[in-house]
Amino acid sequence: MIRLGIIGAGNRICNIVQGLQAHDPECRVTGVVDPDESGARARLPAADRTDARFFPTVSSLLRRGRPDALLIGTRCNLHAPYAAAVAQAGLPLFLEKPIATSLRQARALEKAWQNARAEVVVSFPLRVSQLCVEAKRRIDAGAIGRAEHFLGINYVPYGHVYFDRWYRDHRITQGLFLQKATHDFDYLAYLAGAPIVRVAAMKACGRVHRDQSLEPPGGDPDAAYYPSIGTPETGMNEDASSALLEFANGAQGVYTQVFYTRNSAAARGATVSGLRGTLRFDWYANDLRVVPHAPDTQPEVFSPPEGLEHFGGDAKLVANFSDVIRGRAKSATPLRAGLESVYACLAAKRSAETGRFVNVQPVTEV
Ligand SMILES: NC(=O)c1ccc[n+]([C@@H]2O[C@H](COP(=O)([O-])OP(=O)(O)OC[C@H]3O[C@@H](n4cnc5c(N)ncnc54)[C@H](O)[C@@H]3O)[C@@H](O)[C@H]2O)c1
Repeated sequence: MIRLGIIGAGNRICNIVQGLQAHDPECRVTGVVDPDESGARARLPAADRTDARFFPTVSSLLRRGRPDALLIGTRCNLHAPYAAAVAQAGLPLFLEKPIATSLRQARALEKAWQNARAEVVVSFPLRVSQLCVEAKRRIDAGAIGRAEHFLGINYVPYGHVYFDRWYRDHRITQGLFLQKATHDFDYLAYLAGAPIVRVAAMKACGRVHRDQSLEPPGGDPDAAYYPSIGTPETGMNEDASSALLEFANGAQGVYTQVFYTRNSAAARGATVSGLRGTLRFDWYANDLRVVPHAPDTQPEVFSPPEGLEHFGGDAKLVANFSDVIRGRAKSATPLRAGLESVYACLAAKRSAETGRFVNVQPVTEV
């Protein structure tokens, strides 16, 4: 049996654990830290619901629960403090994104893991999804020549959740670059083969989700009027936000995310341009095209299987975490990737607040 310890047994991490158990039935939840014991118990997989022990602190979970691996699934602002607290435990860690919500948290996390021996699997399903992996394979094989330009788009059809669920609390999320773009900045840097080093960003806040003359675009009809969504002055999630990106290898990019899109207007994916060709993929359309720029050539079209959770990325994440626990693989989404993404998101947030280009903090300790 592999003994899992969960810190923050909410909806997301319990979904992940279910996937992990389907992949590797020897994984069982034996210890949990979560102040909402009854809610958390109800969310646990049925097989573990009765027997899992709850602990008041991480140190008691580690000492008395003796887990073989840990998963952190609290809300965003507690990921970094808990991940720092378990750095010296030497246990494989599955860590939800964003892995930090401030520069101070990210720096402390880096420092805590500086000499740590364990692997961290950051919860970035898009990077490991089949479409993204196939795109990376073609780019690295030279299908479009050197990748010079990246356009990432994210027209979010379920954006109401950022205004009518707990995600509306800006003090927890610190905005939608950290909450949402952390995935996209990660997969774009992965495709570019280089981290993002400089960002210029803009955001629109309160034009849609605070305008009482507009019909709220789907979701809870009262969502636009929640006092707790904040204001542009006190801090609130964006209606839409965009960033210009410079990668360390000189490639450039543009990313844009829109949260009032609905229905089949949904789109998420990238267009990657090189001198020799253009590669384009979209997770909602579930296809990838490579168009060579040479005359008289045919585009290549590729479509993975349909209907997978997070476009197949969650299944890949849990399979990788299982391999990491069993010592069979390294993390496909390591701590460094989580940190690089957070630093890029923090730069975007700062740029959108100040109207200036912002250099991305480099990862120095891990
Ligand atoms: N990677 C992805 O694609 C993806 C998808 C969805 C959500 N998420 C992330 O997962 C995280 C959790 O989201 P969720 O929807 O599951 O939220 P949730 O509210 O369902 O879960 C949070 C859990 O943390 C517990 N908690 C609260 N305070 C705690 C504390 N001090 N110590 C330990 N536990 C505590 C809560 O009781 C709850 O069980 C968020 O940060 C979100 O961004 C990631």
